[in-house]
Amino acid sequence: MKILIATEKPFATKAVQQIKGIIESAGHEMLLLENYTDKSELLNAVANADAMIVRSDKVDAEVLNAAGNLKIVVRAGAGYDNVDIETATTNKVCVMNTPGQNSNAVAELVFGMLLYLVRSGFDGSTGSELKGKRLGLHAFGHIGKITANVANGFGMKVYAYSPSLAKNPELGKEYNVTAVKSPEELYDNSDIISLHMPNNAHTKASINYNLLSRLPDNGILINTARKEVINEDDLIRIMSERPKFKYATDIKLDKHNEVLDKLGNRYLASSKKCGAQTSEANINAGLAAANQIVKFFENGDETYRVNPK
Ligand code: 3PG
Repeated sequence: MKILIATEKPFATKAVQQIKGIIESAGHEMLLLENYTDKSELLNAVANADAMIVRSDKVDAEVLNAAGNLKIVVRAGAGYDNVDIETATTNKVCVMNTPGQNSNAVAELVFGMLLYLVRSGFDGSTGSELKGKRLGLHAFGHIGKITANVANGFGMKVYAYSPSLAKNPELGKEYNVTAVKSPEELYDNSDIISLHMPNNAHTKASINYNLLSRLPDNGILINTARKEVINEDDLIRIMSERPKFKYATDIKLDKHNEVLDKLGNRYLASSKKCGAQTSEANINAGLAAANQIVKFFENGDETYRVNPK
């Protein structure tokens, strides 16, 4: 089988070498398309592929329809909102992700961003400490749990909301986290919010004025999830009304330049999404993806399938 690695933002070289090793030892061939800048390159590359591994690369209907031999797409990472699930299902393509494999890298970035904000961009002015502050985790999956552990190390008080945690508050105890029953309760009880939910119809633009206005005047919002979950106009409104409110994100706002001009170092955005961009995360997610594809072809294993059959 031909297994295409299509990564506009490439994996570390070491990860690619190890992925190649897994693919070739199982008797398959690896095709590599890295750093591509035009969609036509992806459309050409998928034409012969039986399987593909992607990151945030857009696997839309055009790409799926150009991939006549494709049987499986693995998103090496957590969020698969970049894959057109409906078309993949219609085309009988199995879609998987690799849950948990890059979570540690993302959780560590939360604290990198948070320290930058509470120390005012390291500009030498008096900042504040994380110890004793209330951190609200909005969603409590793999990343939320690691973030809770690190936050406990900083001596923060950790609260979390997720529908599953609300049903099973005992899980919170395991992580020294207070489980709350609603997003509203979470924002009412937090100084800082870190977002860890997927982007879907339910979460789109859900971080709105009603929630953000529940934070204190000097509230902080950290977004290492997706920009789509933010109601941008509401966020900009809150930040304009509250001169001490801060926002850090791994995914630039649509109105990035406008916000940067207006808000200076109260707004921090990665120049390119980098939450999962560590060699460790690349190796974990990339190798998991390769192994999942090998098993899929070996014995039809669909353990991490995310789309209906
Ligand atoms: C994920 O959903 O796993 C992260 O957003 C990582 O995205 P990336 O692979 O594009 O870095």
